Amino acid sequence: MRLDVVTIFPEYLEPLDVSLVGKARAAGLLDVRVHDLRRFTHDRHHTVDDTPYGGGPGMVMKPEPWGEALDTVLASGAPAKPVIVVPTPSGRPFTQDLAQRLAGEEWLIFTPARYEGIDRRVIEEYGARFDVREVSIGDYVLAGGEAPVLVMVEAVARLLPGVLGNADSHRDDSFAPGAMAGLLEGPVYTKPPEWRGRAVPEVLISGHHGRIARWRRDEALRRTSDNRPDLIERCDPASLDKHDRAA
Ligand code: ADE
Repeated sequence: MRLDVVTIFPEYLEPLDVSLVGKARAAGLLDVRVHDLRRFTHDRHHTVDDTPYGGGPGMVMKPEPWGEALDTVLASGAPAKPVIVVPTPSGRPFTQDLAQRLAGEEWLIFTPARYEGIDRRVIEEYGARFDVREVSIGDYVLAGGEAPVLVMVEAVARLLPGVLGNADSHRDDSFAPGAMAGLLEGPVYTKPPEWRGRAVPEVLISGHHGRIARWRRDEALRRTSDNRPDLIERCDPASLDKHDRAA
């Protein structure tokens, strides 16, 4: 998969060199290219923002540098058509489902903005020719879209074939489709069997697969109802069994 990021803070994306995403790049599974938006300005101060039409606080990112940057990046991969992901608190929520969809794409371009966002005409211009998605990573406002890009790239990269050592690793992820669909993952334990007087739940060392599966599901239900009752509300009743109702 190819990933391009256009930003005024290329150094903010340096974490894409480490850990899972860094390894995926080193293994040739991900081709990440970070571009400095200021390279596409032509004034002495490399200006990327200006005051908003209609007044109001803050600054808006100018359309010309974005246009030049996106034309350049798009030309470098033509005729392939990327999905363009625009991080913004005003976008549609980023979900595991969207991560899964994006993981099926060949090419993603991320356009993290600073200030009050990018001049709307940029979204319209590219939205007329490409699949442009405005995406929010949560109901809070960050200073820019770079951290959301790190979040989204990590969520997508770990779903690419060959990136996680064990193909089953994300089978039971919270939010993943499957037996635990729509439930959060329950607690996990490793060795030693006792730590500071706290024992690992007996069922997990019982070797009884049926009981272990039941326990895991009960714990997932408990955690979901404690932390995310909204997910239980939305749960398809057909996905619950009679033991769930008791739990
Ligand atoms: N930029 C600022 N806040 C953001 C958010 N919550 N999601 C995506 N991009 C953003």
